[in-house]
Amino acid sequence: MDTHISSRKDDHLRLAGQFYAAAHSRQTEQIGRSEHREIDDVQFIHNSLPETNRADVSRETSFAGIHVDRPFFINAMTGGTEKTNEVNRRLAAVAQKTGIPLALGSMSIAVKNAQTRDAYKALRQDFPDVCFIANLGAEHTLESAGLVTDLIGASALQIHLNAAQEIVMPEGERDFTGWIDHISQFVSELGVPVIVKEVGFGMSYATVAKLLDIGVMTVDIAGRGGTNFIQIENARNAEHDYDYLEGWGISTLRSLSEALFACRDMQIDAEIIASGGVQNPLDIVKYLALGADAVGLSAPFLHSVTGGSSDSDSARDAVSRTVDLIQEWDGHIANIMTILGVTSIEDLRENAEIVLPESLVQYLSQRFAGRDSEQFLMTLTSLSKFRK
Ligand SMILES: Cc1cc2nc3c(=O)[nH]c(=O)nc-3n(C[C@H](O)[C@H](O)[C@H](O)COP(=O)(O)O)c2cc1C
Repeated sequence: MDTHISSRKDDHLRLAGQFYAAAHSRQTEQIGRSEHREIDDVQFIHNSLPETNRADVSRETSFAGIHVDRPFFINAMTGGTEKTNEVNRRLAAVAQKTGIPLALGSMSIAVKNAQTRDAYKALRQDFPDVCFIANLGAEHTLESAGLVTDLIGASALQIHLNAAQEIVMPEGERDFTGWIDHISQFVSELGVPVIVKEVGFGMSYATVAKLLDIGVMTVDIAGRGGTNFIQIENARNAEHDYDYLEGWGISTLRSLSEALFACRDMQIDAEIIASGGVQNPLDIVKYLALGADAVGLSAPFLHSVTGGSSDSDSARDAVSRTVDLIQEWDGHIANIMTILGVTSIEDLRENAEIVLPESLVQYLSQRFAGRDSEQFLMTLTSLSKFRK
């Protein structure tokens, strides 16, 4: 069992890196097929009189009790094997230098195999200032959740919902019952904030509503558009062919809209994290303007700390390249906010003007017009204002 988990984790790392690099090179070279990104059609209205000094632009935000100067973080990926522990050490060095939180990949390996725990303890000791977020599947017990949270001294625990991934894995889980009860118990008894996240297939209105109903106050919708675990599992598996399922899931933009509608209808001001396929600082500013509290990125950081690097590329180079990337992105976010004429995330939500793509408006009308005929045309901009 442990060997299975270990080789799976190494496979995930390798394949996620390969798919990311392939998609990225297609985009930069403008050749081949790449999926249309609806987020590209979300447009800010340019403001020629911003009357804003960049020095006054704050990017501060908070989620799950974590206060951050920058509105993005490293989302869950890996850990527990020699190779993946090295990736975590590089990511932790980046987090230590920049102050951005680091969510670790699923720590179920530490629950099942005590020998893997030392590497997590060393990570905590060697990077004392890092805000770690632990990660576990919803099938786990409260005791296991407590174990992994304590092991890494986590500020919060992410619970991942990955049914779509498990079902295409030959060795994957087939029984998805009991998750809601477990999450409900984590929320009420764990003692650290709980974030419930998808793994790249997005959450629907109904999923978010169920989570809010059991007291979850931070949801990471982790939508489709970036790392695709059906594609990854498909590539690992010679026996079955799930090519036809690779378009499964709800895009990050649509899932964020679904989550905002759920919050509005239930009058619960929960925190929403947008993640999945985030590619640049403009994507981040758009998701924040639409109502996300923070934005998570996985594959781009994985690529920066491992990919594109030759064997001679040292860990130190990879870390410093990634630190530079984060600082550059933060600067770009500040620049974009400056020309929009806003000085805080709240200001961005309240005052930046946005035009939504017709395809999204049509999607929302099909999803919500029946139930909410008078208000369904309320734009996402006004949804985000509701959240303020
Ligand atoms: C190599 C790799 C391993 C991952 N492992 C986990 C995991 O253990 N737990 C989890 O919640 N999400 C995991 N994810 C999913 C990410 O947290 C994220 O939801 C997804 O990759 C979409 O974001 P991206 O497009 O920025 O990569 C993993 C992603 C990658 C690339």
